[in-house]
Amino acid sequence: MSLSKKILVTGGAGYIGAHTVVELFASGYEPVILDDLSRSDRTLLNGIQEITHRDVSFFEGDCCDKQFLSEVFKSAGPFACILHFAAYKSVGESVEKPLEYYRNNIGSLVTLLEVMQDNNVRDLIFSSSCTVYGQPDHVPVNESAPFKRAESPYGATKQVCERILEDAYSTGFRIVSLRYFNPIGAHPSTLLGEIPIGAPNNLVPYITQTAAGIREKLTVFGGDYDTHDGTCIRDFIHVVDVATAHVKAIEYLKQRSEESLYEVFNLGTGIGVSVMQLIKKFIRVTGINLPYTVGARRPGDIEKVFADPAKVNKALHWKVKYSIADSLLHAWQWEKKIRDLKN
Ligand code: UD1
Repeated sequence: MSLSKKILVTGGAGYIGAHTVVELFASGYEPVILDDLSRSDRTLLNGIQEITHRDVSFFEGDCCDKQFLSEVFKSAGPFACILHFAAYKSVGESVEKPLEYYRNNIGSLVTLLEVMQDNNVRDLIFSSSCTVYGQPDHVPVNESAPFKRAESPYGATKQVCERILEDAYSTGFRIVSLRYFNPIGAHPSTLLGEIPIGAPNNLVPYITQTAAGIREKLTVFGGDYDTHDGTCIRDFIHVVDVATAHVKAIEYLKQRSEESLYEVFNLGTGIGVSVMQLIKKFIRVTGINLPYTVGARRPGDIEKVFADPAKVNKALHWKVKYSIADSLLHAWQWEKKIRDLKN
């Protein structure tokens, strides 16, 4: 890795990217954000600035545009490492627009790898997902579990991207893929959080919007799963914990001397929490009434998935700091704040 402190953060105006930019500043790095703002806007860039009191270096453009990307590398580099968050992530939308998902999520990764190669940048942290496992045979799931057939085009793009990285790393890349479980919550300052486009697909933004009266009620998708309370089980992890793992991953690569390497890590807490437990915890922690009903299963949902985080805990010297209660409280505080920020 070069001695430069500059880190290129693609998708740095998005939910996980923006939280990571804050942690990069806190650790003495100089993040440079690249984002096309197609699924984000300047709200989180302002939040980063308010938290860090630093000027954010920002380039607006598409990661699939090789010429644009090359210009960013020339004018803002040299980069020590690239954090590649830029991707589409809505499971439902990917079913409706599969080609857009394949073009964007795979095209941006291939373009980025080519430009990295042209500029002699080797180190990359890739945003993968636990969706690559499908429904694992055993939980907690560890990194050696086989990929099952992806339930959605979105999931398939993450599997294909990981395959591309596996094939390409030996040509001179040093790559870490982080398989996120379910990132939730918001920055404790309430200056950063998730901004869903339209009605949220994900559980926690739907909970907070319902609690805020924006949605009439929450529907729990399926109460007849083979779990202790009949609802699905996930591994919910605070977004700031996800962010700090990226800083640890950069440091991990720095300490490794290999010319090329590829490592995959689960990024989860190791604790499986059911949808119903999460709802009850939200009500308890916030004291807010949350109208909900139990409805039909959502097609494509996995019954039960949570991480075995032993590998990431050991190799990256990382562990989670925030509890589920913290995550839900921060998500709620953000929900109350977000409308002021957007107006
Ligand atoms: C999905 C993807 C994950 C991706 C994430 C980001 C899969 C298996 N997982 O996570 O890879 O990174 O989206 O978008 O494709 N639920 C309700 N009511 C709601 C919303 C959700 O009951 O209104 C339930 C779901 O059925 C599920 C759980 O809450 O059991 C979590 O859902 P969600 O937040 O959408 O995340 P995943 O589907 O786990």
